[in-house]
Amino acid sequence: MDPNNILADPRTSEVSDDFTIDQGWKSYTEEEHETWDILYRHQLECLPGLACDQFMDGLSALNLGTGGIPDFKKINVKLKELTGWEVVAVPCLVPDDIFFEHLANRRFPAGNFIRKREQLEYIQEPDVFHDVFGHVPLLTNPVFADYMQAYGKGGMRSQGYDRLKALASLYWYTVEFGLINTPKGMRIFGAGILSSRTEATFSINARSPNRIHFDLERLMRSDYKIDDFQATYFVISSFEELFRVTVETDFGPLYERLNPCFDFTPTSVLESDRVYQRGTQEYGRAGGRKRGIRPV
Ligand code: PHE
Ligand code: CO
Repeated sequence: MDPNNILADPRTSEVSDDFTIDQGWKSYTEEEHETWDILYRHQLECLPGLACDQFMDGLSALNLGTGGIPDFKKINVKLKELTGWEVVAVPCLVPDDIFFEHLANRRFPAGNFIRKREQLEYIQEPDVFHDVFGHVPLLTNPVFADYMQAYGKGGMRSQGYDRLKALASLYWYTVEFGLINTPKGMRIFGAGILSSRTEATFSINARSPNRIHFDLERLMRSDYKIDDFQATYFVISSFEELFRVTVETDFGPLYERLNPCFDFTPTSVLESDRVYQRGTQEYGRAGGRKRGIRPV
């Protein structure tokens, strides 16, 4: 949705100071509910064996698949009981300080609108399918749920440091595009991948991208792609590892020594990296999405 048009949409006419709105569940059309069902079916065909168990468990615990766009009120009954989190509706991407404050209070802001039929494969703005299908299932996992809250508190604290890009990079490479190495093999936990049919296989199977073990400072120094498949995926061993490393590190001194710009490009591989796979980068070199390149 075009942020300038928010107020023109009758469904979102009352936006509060914290950007939350009523989901307007009753106003969804049949076609919109169907769009959810199509996307849901697509993902369920490809995600088994690619998505981590914690995500698949969360998906079934919340019953997200049964008929159309879920009603947030219903999700919240179960979610609150499991980890104390809730989903709140917002009309668009919210400003950073508002976003951090929601997370710090165990509220996940989710777009209430759904993509158009011509955007089934790709949408740049996070819609209700990305936000709810991609992000909410893992909020049923106690360790991941705590990580998300800690991230929100960290974001609030970071505001005096002018290093938001580095913190955004941490979110990007974990919450949105993270992989987890499990005894059964490499699996996805990042929401940006879980809500995309094509990136799901690409992230796990393609020879193009790098797969590198998670290293907090290295990752916060790394740029990322916002409009195409990632050139590098960072891999954690467990949610406990992710929680421990980020929560136990005082980001103050880290912000002080980080440069204002990213030091590493999205394709960089460093001497010091623990590399699972050094990618060929053939997808990006051939021009990627803009050139209609088939992922390999
Ligand atoms: N430890 C971080 C700080 O000192 C906070 C944080 C925790 C950030 C978890 C991100 C994720 O600011
Ligand atoms: Co997202």
